[in-house]
Amino acid sequence: MTIYKVKNYDEMSKKAADIVAAQVVLKPECVLGLATGSTPEGMYAELAKKCDNKDVDFSKVKSANLDEYVGIDRTNDQSYYYYMNKHLFSKINIDKANTNIPDGMTNDPEAECANYDKKIADMGGVDLQVLGMGLNGHIGFNEPDTYFPKGTHCVKLTQSTIDANARFFASIDDVPKSAYTMGIGTIMSAKKILLLVNGAKKAEILKAALTGPITPDVPASILQLHNDVIVVADEEALSAM
Ligand code: F6R
Repeated sequence: MTIYKVKNYDEMSKKAADIVAAQVVLKPECVLGLATGSTPEGMYAELAKKCDNKDVDFSKVKSANLDEYVGIDRTNDQSYYYYMNKHLFSKINIDKANTNIPDGMTNDPEAECANYDKKIADMGGVDLQVLGMGLNGHIGFNEPDTYFPKGTHCVKLTQSTIDANARFFASIDDVPKSAYTMGIGTIMSAKKILLLVNGAKKAEILKAALTGPITPDVPASILQLHNDVIVVADEEALSAM
């Protein structure tokens, strides 16, 4: 595991964008695993600049997002589909047909989840998976549990996650209570993982994830078992280490 300690959110975003850009330059037809939330927004803005400057060409890139809320339509500005278009896909030259996000409105969750794993496998697996981390150590929406879920599945969000995500919604009652997420097995099968963490609020859980026991109670702790993880975290997030 390589840990880059950076000063602040801006530096984290630039460093992360450099790593993603390097992946695309080295393998133009690569598969990127992508995250949503506040953490990668700055990185996406940096990637958009790189594309504008013609430093990176996304035309052959494929992508698979980590997760999507259940029951939220793609046109809803709180859907992760909407988020990805707003922050990245509309700003780079990726072919939208090559982007994948679980369908939160599916009538057949089981088939949707199985199909999502198949899509990822058919693309040859994820080359570089970008991750943020929840305040409770979740990655994707794999919440603390008694086991590590393997494939894409439907998950009931914990109160901690609902509270944390309430800032994006008009009221806490509007926050969906469940989501589709890549499983821990799906995430761990990525060839390379890039974990981004910022802010003092995540200092204790980041320390637990990187140096504590490997336990499904801290889902991100499983990253200790992956042989190619890069962590880019700011001074505040690394302050407990
Ligand atoms: C988002 C995702 C989540 C977030 C995590 C942190 O696709 O999978 O694991 O990365 O909840 O969210 P932020 O970045 O908003 O603190």
